[in-house]
Amino acid sequence: MDTASLFALALEAARSSYSPYSRFRVGSALVAEDGTVFTGANVENRSFGLTICAERSALVTAISAGHRAFTRIAVATPDSKGPVSPCGACRQVLSEFMAPGARVTFGASRDELVETTIGALLPFDALHDLKGSL
Ligand code: THU
Repeated sequence: MDTASLFALALEAARSSYSPYSRFRVGSALVAEDGTVFTGANVENRSFGLTICAERSALVTAISAGHRAFTRIAVATPDSKGPVSPCGACRQVLSEFMAPGARVTFGASRDELVETTIGALLPFDALHDLKGSL
């Protein structure tokens, strides 16, 4: 799937965001190794620390459906002025199931998209090298 289509799915997913506290909607679209796309939205809670980001929302849905490896993710933050990158927790959790070279696309709208990789977002990930031998 091309970048524009994947980002459009992330934007659509942001409409399902449950974010009454921040009023900051986020949507994501995650591509599994076999091409299946899973979407997610951020789900907040009145106990703020329990909030689940859109990226982890898509990931746990996909993992629960039996998938284990992902090649790309797009993240849409329609309520921000510019692109907002995945938070530190999501970088770590995504890296469990995505190779350092896996592509990450994020933006507030299709007009300004940032293209990067998991490895660039989470450098010096020594634990990734140990994965499987821990
Ligand atoms: N959020 C995400 O879902 N993903 C990100 O990459 C950035 C932050 C959510 C968490 C919270 O519901 C809201 O955005 C404001 O931080």
